Amino acid sequence: MRFNIDLMKSQLTSNLTNLEIEYFEEIDSTNTYLLKRKNFSNKILVIADYQTAGRGRFNRKWLSDPSKNLMFSIGLKNVDHSDLQKFSFFTPLSIQEAVEDFMNFKLKIKWPNDLIFENKKVCGILIESQIENNEKAKVVVGIGINVNQTEFTPELEDKASSLKIIKGEEINREILLARILTKFFYYLENLKNNFDEVYQSYREKCVGIGQNITVLFDREIYSGILLDINRNGELELLVEDKKFSFKSGEITLLKE
Ligand code: BTN
Repeated sequence: MRFNIDLMKSQLTSNLTNLEIEYFEEIDSTNTYLLKRKNFSNKILVIADYQTAGRGRFNRKWLSDPSKNLMFSIGLKNVDHSDLQKFSFFTPLSIQEAVEDFMNFKLKIKWPNDLIFENKKVCGILIESQIENNEKAKVVVGIGINVNQTEFTPELEDKASSLKIIKGEEINREILLARILTKFFYYLENLKNNFDEVYQSYREKCVGIGQNITVLFDREIYSGILLDINRNGELELLVEDKKFSFKSGEITLLKE
C-alpha cells in the first residue's frame, strides 16, 4: 500500500508542524534529490515509496521493494561544522529507541551506524554534507529501514532482516516514521547540551566492544580487539599491541 502522508502528519508532535514534507511514489534517490535541491526551508523531509537509484555507503546500491519499507532523507541547513560528527551518534540512536518503544524489541548498533538484529542488517544510514560557509553546512541524513519486506535477493538473504520478520507482524510505517522523527528532532534540538548522554547511550547499544573483529578499510583487512568508539566517532582497534583509529570502514564480528 502507498505511504499515507496524512496519517504520518497526524502523528507528528506539535514542534514538527513547520517541517516541510515531500512525498514521491518513485524517485532516483531521496539523498541525491536533496543534495541537488537548492531551496528548502531549514528542515525538510523527503519520503519515497521506491528508489530507482538508492545509494548506500561506499557507493553501494540500496535495494528496497516498493511500498513496503521506509526510505527517507532529512535535509537540514545551517548546521555547525562542529556538530556534523554527532549525527552519526544520534541518528541510529533515534531509530533504535523509536523501534524499542513502538515494537518492544532491541536493535543493536553496528559501527558506524547500521542497525542490526542477530547480526542481520535492518537499517542503513547515509549521512552526506555540503559546506555552506566557514561555519555552516547543509546535511542530508538518508535512512533506509527494512520494515515489511520479508524476501530478499539470494546475496542479501543471510545478511538482511526486517522489522516484520523480527516481530512476526505487519508494521505501520507511518506511525513508526513519526516516532523516529520525534526522537531525531528532540536530539537535534538539544545537541549542544546532551552529547554526553547521546554518546553513552550509543556506546551501550553498540555491538562488539571488547570483542575480536575485523575492519575492512581501503581494501585492507585489520584484525584486532574493538577497544572503543571514541567521542569523534572513530573506532579504536587494538592490533597486537598497537592502537589504530578508523574514521570509516566496515566491521565484522568474529565468533568467539
Ligand atoms: C548503507 O547502509 O549503506 C546506507 C543506506 C542508506 C539508504 C537510504 S534510503 C533513503 C536514502 N536515499 C538513498 O539513496 N539512500 C538513503
